Amino acid sequence: MLLRSMSAENYRSLRAIRMDLGRVNLFVGENGAGKSNLYRSLQLVQAAVRGTFAHEIAAEGGMASALWTGKRRPNEPVRIRLEAELMDEERAITFRYRIEAGLRPPAAAGFAFEPQVKAEELTIETGRRPVTVMKRAGPGISVRNESGRMAEHPEQALTSETAIALIGDAGHYPEVGTFRRAVSQWRFFHGFRSDRDSALRQPCLAVTAPLLDEDGANMAAVFATLATTRQDTVDLDRAVAEAFGGARLTIPEPEEFASYGLVFPQFPKRVFQPRELSDGQIRFLALAAALLSYRTPPLIALNEPEASLHPDMLPPLAGMIARAAGTSQLWIVTHSERLAREIEARCGVRAKRVIRNDGATWIEGMRLTGEMEDEDE
Ligand SMILES: Nc1ncnc2c1ncn2[C@@H]1O[C@H](COP(=O)(O)OP(=O)(O)O)[C@@H](O)[C@H]1O
Ligand SMILES: [Mg+2]
Repeated sequence: MLLRSMSAENYRSLRAIRMDLGRVNLFVGENGAGKSNLYRSLQLVQAAVRGTFAHEIAAEGGMASALWTGKRRPNEPVRIRLEAELMDEERAITFRYRIEAGLRPPAAAGFAFEPQVKAEELTIETGRRPVTVMKRAGPGISVRNESGRMAEHPEQALTSETAIALIGDAGHYPEVGTFRRAVSQWRFFHGFRSDRDSALRQPCLAVTAPLLDEDGANMAAVFATLATTRQDTVDLDRAVAEAFGGARLTIPEPEEFASYGLVFPQFPKRVFQPRELSDGQIRFLALAAALLSYRTPPLIALNEPEASLHPDMLPPLAGMIARAAGTSQLWIVTHSERLAREIEARCGVRAKRVIRNDGATWIEGMRLTGEMEDEDE
């Protein structure tokens, strides 16, 4: 399932932006250009599907902070609007999900920092014209039933809730479940903690881990799963050797806890424990676990993965990214021109340059429709 396009309005510096997406989406740009805002806008679509939208907005400072601060057209409602289009290529089904959220009217229910979800819609398209399968206006939700009619859903949504999460598998469109599962499985990785108390430096419960948790807490179990369940750590070993001058990752057979260590060629008899490794080494290992895990998420998004990595680790990082691109769609945000060049060369894509235009985030050379001017070159 491929994310085909994404649009956002009035979310932070995203005044109104729509972009077509491909398998590997690489964003570069200056500090403050809005790269993280783009990344977050996608994460919020996932939050809507998972039912954590209000929580996510409240945690980033509430609606007053999240809404675009700049000029608006007169009479334009003050609303964050996000839309994502996904395509199931095998079955040629397109899904379009849209959510609109605004401020709480002065005397309404709900809490001050929460968003008020005003509207949502999910449509599917299978070659013919699009069919609405779920629509929400205010608290009322309607869902398309087996006779193909829109029927009122028995439950009403609270203003802070998203209907897409609330309806579950209601309605008679198994495709809706496919859509929700795909979006829920996206993985976002941003700023792994690498300080002394970081989860990445602790052993973790030995529970089979096909995917890395977003905080990296099950990293040792991800490695153990590759070593024990798949019995294939070739890509992982290659990346580690390349990044750390010929070092080797040791993954003991786990009992109650899973752990790992590194052996460097200078000290072949000594296994370095996670607490002894540098921040950069720890973070590189976490990225390896994110990109080379047993199972592959439909989409992996990395926000500034180069942070605190030594420049020599950038080519192996790009190598892992190219490897992951074989099985997952990628959304990579970077501040590093070097990393961008390495990814461009390995994945055969051109980076999108994120810029500010009158305070609003934009992509250099992009038309209003979201297509790139030089797309057909
Ligand atoms: N509500 C808002 N309205 C307009 N701009 C905002 C809003 N919130 C944050 N910004 C702007 O977004 C920028 C930060 O964007 P961010 O995505 O973090 O940048 P980066 O490209 O460095 O990741 C800041 O310049 C800030 O001024
Ligand atoms: Mg950023």
